Amino acid sequence: MTDQAKHWSEAAEGYEEAFIDPYLPDVRNPLRPALTALAAKTKTAADLGCGIGPLLPFLAEQFGRVVAVDFAEGMLARARERCRGLTNIEFQPGELTDLTQLADRVDVAVAVNSLVLPDTGALDAALSAVHATLRPGGHFLGIVPAIDAVHYFTMLLLDRAKRAGMPDSKARQNAAHHAEHEYYDFAFGDFRYQGLQQHFWQPFEVRYRLRRAGFHRIRLSKVHLSWQQFGCARDLGDEPPPWDWYFHAER
Ligand SMILES: C[S@@+](CC[C@H](N)C(=O)[O-])C[C@H]1O[C@@H](n2cnc3c(N)ncnc32)[C@H](O)[C@@H]1O
Repeated sequence: MTDQAKHWSEAAEGYEEAFIDPYLPDVRNPLRPALTALAAKTKTAADLGCGIGPLLPFLAEQFGRVVAVDFAEGMLARARERCRGLTNIEFQPGELTDLTQLADRVDVAVAVNSLVLPDTGALDAALSAVHATLRPGGHFLGIVPAIDAVHYFTMLLLDRAKRAGMPDSKARQNAAHHAEHEYYDFAFGDFRYQGLQQHFWQPFEVRYRLRRAGFHRIRLSKVHLSWQQFGCARDLGDEPPPWDWYFHAER
C-alpha cells in the first residue's frame, strides 16, 4: 500500500467528522440530478475514489452495473458494509492512475473529492485513465475541492476581524488562524493535514486539465457548501458559503 493509501485508510473510521460533506440537505449539489438524467439500467457507472460509499446506493438504484474503485482498504471496507445486499456493485481496490481493467467499459464515471492526487503528473495520469475508461459518448462528472474558496473564506474572516477593530497585521493573523492557513500551500494548491496530501483546484485548472486529458464540453459550477461545516459561521452566515467545484465533461 502506498503512503497516501495508508493515510486515507486510516481516515476512514472518523470520515464524517473530518471531511466536508457535499450531500448535506442545505448544499446545492447538481450531481444527483445530472446522474439521474444520464442513468439507464443498460449502463455502467464507475465511482472512482468511492471512499466510504455515500453515492453508491444511489448509483446502484439508477444504473444496471456499478464499479467502485478506491486504493484505501479502510474506505472500501466501510463502503462494502454500507452496500451489503446491493447485488449490482463490484468493488475494485486500485489506483486512479491505473484503470486499465475498466478501459472502454464505463458509460458514466464519477469522482467526488477524489481527484486530489498531490503530484500533478499523477493527477494528469488519473484524468487520462478516466478518459480511457469511457465508452464513446461517455460522461465524466465530479466535484473537486476549491482553493479559491479558501481565499474567499479568508477574505470574509479578514473583514470580520477588521470590523472587530483589529489592526491589519492582527486581522491577517486572525484570518489565517481561522482559515487554517498552516495546512495550505496556496501557490500550488496543496493541502497537507494528518499525513494526507491533497490537491485543491482553481476553476481554470479544472478546464485546463480536463481538456488536456481529452475531455470536451466541460461545464463547471459551484457547489455551495453548508455553513454548518465551517467555524465562524455565526458571524459570516449572511454571505454565500464557501464552495467546491462541480464539473461535467464528455469523452
Ligand atoms: C475525500 S474522499 C471522497 C470519497 C467519496 N468520493 C465521497 O464523496 O465521500 C477521497 C477518496 O479518494 C480516494 N483516493 C484518493 N487518491 C486516490 C488514488 N490515487 N487512487 C484511488 N483512490 C484514491 C481516497 O482513498 C478516498 O477514499
